[in-house]
Formats: sequence, C-alpha cells, structure tokens
Amino acid sequence: MKKDPTLFPEDFIWGASTSAYQIEGAHDAQGKGASIWDLFVQRENRIWRGQNGRVACDHYYRFKEDVAQMRLMGLKAYRFSLSWARILPDGTGTINEAGLAYYDALINELLENNIEPWVTLFHWDLPYELFLRGGWLNRSSPEWFSEYTKVVVSRFSDRVERWVTINEPQCFIGLGYRDGTHAPGLNLSFGECLMAGHNALLAHGRSVQVIRENAKRTPMIGWSPSGSVYRPGSNRLDDISAAREATSAIYSDNVWNTRWWSDPAILGHYPEDGLKVYEKALPKFPATDFEIIQQPLDYYCCNIFQATPVRMSDEGTPVAIPLSDGEDISLYEWSQNPDCLYWGPRFIHELYDLPIVITENGCSTSDRVSLDGAVHDSNRTDFMVGHLLSLRKAMDDGVDVRGYFHWSLLDNFEWHEGYKHRYGLIHVNYENQVRTWKDSAYCLQEIISSNGNSL
Ligand code: NOJ
Repeated sequence: MKKDPTLFPEDFIWGASTSAYQIEGAHDAQGKGASIWDLFVQRENRIWRGQNGRVACDHYYRFKEDVAQMRLMGLKAYRFSLSWARILPDGTGTINEAGLAYYDALINELLENNIEPWVTLFHWDLPYELFLRGGWLNRSSPEWFSEYTKVVVSRFSDRVERWVTINEPQCFIGLGYRDGTHAPGLNLSFGECLMAGHNALLAHGRSVQVIRENAKRTPMIGWSPSGSVYRPGSNRLDDISAAREATSAIYSDNVWNTRWWSDPAILGHYPEDGLKVYEKALPKFPATDFEIIQQPLDYYCCNIFQATPVRMSDEGTPVAIPLSDGEDISLYEWSQNPDCLYWGPRFIHELYDLPIVITENGCSTSDRVSLDGAVHDSNRTDFMVGHLLSLRKAMDDGVDVRGYFHWSLLDNFEWHEGYKHRYGLIHVNYENQVRTWKDSAYCLQEIISSNGNSL
C-alpha cells in the first residue's frame, strides 16, 4: 500500500544528540581547563565502577569518523554541546584557541556533510574554576555565561544558526546541588538550590540576548529543560485531566517540574502556585531579573524519556500509578511507554504554545555485539518507532513539532552511572573504540530516507 508521502513535513529535522563530557574524552588536551565533572569522577564511590569520561568515545580525535557515520545514517542535524572549559579554561578571561579550533573543525566537517550543527552551550560541565568562585550560586554566574556565549557566538555564528542555551537545569541543580549524585556533588538547602537555579535562568536569558546581539546569521534559539511530564493511565477524560494537572504541578521541596523553570523563561514570572509551594525556602529576587530571564524563543526543546502514568483519585487529585509487573522498562527502570511522546509535547504545547523540537528521546539498554557481528537492540528499535508514531499523532492533533533528535548517537558516559547504560544508535567498544551500528541505527536510516514513511 502506498503511504502518504507527507507523513512528516518535508523539512522535518531528523537528528541525534550528544554532549561534550559524555563523548569527547581528551579531558586535558590542548589547553582545556578542568570542569566540575573532571574533578567529580576522581572522588570515591561517586561513579559506577569508578569510571570517568577521560577518554569516553574519544570523539575529540575521532569526530571525522563519527560525522561520516552520521552522514551515512542520513542525519539532517546533529546536536552537541561545547565544553566551556575547553574554550575558556578558567571559565572567563583567557581564551584557548585550540578549543575554538576544535569546534571550528567539527562544525566545518558537519557542514561539508550537509548536517546542520545544533549547538548546546551548557550541558552540565561547568569550568571548575567557576565552581571555586561559587558556581551557579554566585550572582555573577550569568555574566560569566554571557561572556562565554559571546566568545562562541562571535566565532561560530557565521556557520551556526541553531542554539540551545542550557540543558536540563532541573538535573544540574537537582542532582548536582541538592541530591549530590552529580557534579559538583553538593547537598545544599532547598533555598540555595532555588538561588542557583535562578542564576541559571538569568544565565539563559543573558545568553539569548548575547546570541541575538552578536550572531552573524539570524539565530534560532531554544532551551532544553527536562521534560517532567505525566501521562494518563487510561483514556478516561478525568485521567487525562489528572495527567495535564500533574504536568503543570509543582510539588514541595524538589525541583522536578516543568513550570518553575519554563514559566519565567517563557512567561516572565515564577508560577503563583510554585511561589506558594516553595514559599518557606524562597530567596528574594529583584523583579527586574525577569526582564532578563524572559526572552523570545524560537522553540521549546523537549528532552523526554519517560512519563509517569497517573489517574484521578476520588478526591480529584492526580495520583501516580505504580508500574505493573512485567511492564516494559529500560535499564534505568524507566517506563518505555511511547505515550509520553504524545502527551508530553501536547501538554507543553498547551502551556507555552511554542514550536517544539524533541532534542532528546532514547532508552538505556545493555547492548552487546552478537556472534553474528551485529547489535540486535530490538528494545531501542521498538522504542524509537513507537515514540515517533506517538509524536506523529501529537502533530496530527495540532502540536507544532519541528524535529526529533535521538539520544544518543553513540553509547557514552552516562554520568554517575558510568558506561553501564548504553543509549547509542551506534555501539562503542570502549577497549578499542570500534563503532558498530545497532539495528536501531539501520532503522533510523530507513525512517529518515523515507521521511518517516517506513514507520
Ligand atoms: C538527559 C541528559 O541531557 C543526558 O545527558 C543524559 O545522558 C540522558 N538524559 C539520559 O539519562
């Protein structure tokens, strides 16, 4: 049967994502400064099996090989992050020309292969020197970030148009400053976390301003918070309302929500209900801060890996439904239900009405190369196909989705979980750096070449 040739829009952006510390390696090469992750991995009992990202996928030295794989896969775009400390070893001040030259070469290689670079400015690897100066707790941190933004935008914006400011503030504040499981490994008070988060929001806003003021080509800018989204446990209307309510709710004493972060960035103020929930811990912020934090964005970048199922209780409040026995789960034990890529973008669209790009979606497994030399990751293939069909359905229902980036191109260093989780479309043998396409990579290749019609 001939399928509709326009299943996805002609200009739909098919991509894959990575981040600097998770793949680059070359942790101290050519003048790079240390980041908080370089130091954190040296601490005892912090990372699974004491692993680290010193070499990771050795992408710093193998980027040409990796770009060749992207081209073969048919990727239209590649989202990666810059290592701030590779460019400004102390975070501010002296510029490391070798760091800029490295990203120049990567960007040029991508463009020569017709792959559009999507540059994320901050994916958690804060320069260590800035941590010593108080990191995100320091009210100067937004200015440090804007200085760094100016350096990279001045250098790369003749070729780069797509920018993502900061990645998942919920994680680097929640896990890094509150739970201490991520670098810099702190267990701060909730108020201090809100302060650090506020500075990160200011940094986002300043960075958007700096990009718009300095870009040589008209920039398209987004930001990529964690997709803290919920899905209805059934098709009942009240369960759908429960999921909608939970997705916009702010629960006390934790930062795992959407609106505390995205309301100020997009609507220009903290949410009223959040101000009440966080009241006791809340530091005072000058009202004028929100004029900086709220900047026009070209899209909302969603990183969505899962959604907690909920139902409406008899009292009319959303309650989480525990995973059922035998439910399809990832190695992280996250639910793999594809509905998250229907309801997540839909609820985000209802809240903010911005074009949406899925900048991360993927599943953790423990793949291996089989005796036949292939990597049969049927979990990932099913995950990706199911999620893309859900996304397509959300688009049919009016959600303006511009692209999908799979997390991740390569297996990589999964933060405190080390190399335990494999997220790649391409398997990496960390002993010899051999790359092997997984079945899912071939599947994505077909999806892209048919613009989604093979789904
Ligand atoms: C989102 C983060 O941005 C990425 O760094 C991480 O590897 C994935 N989640 C999977 O946990």
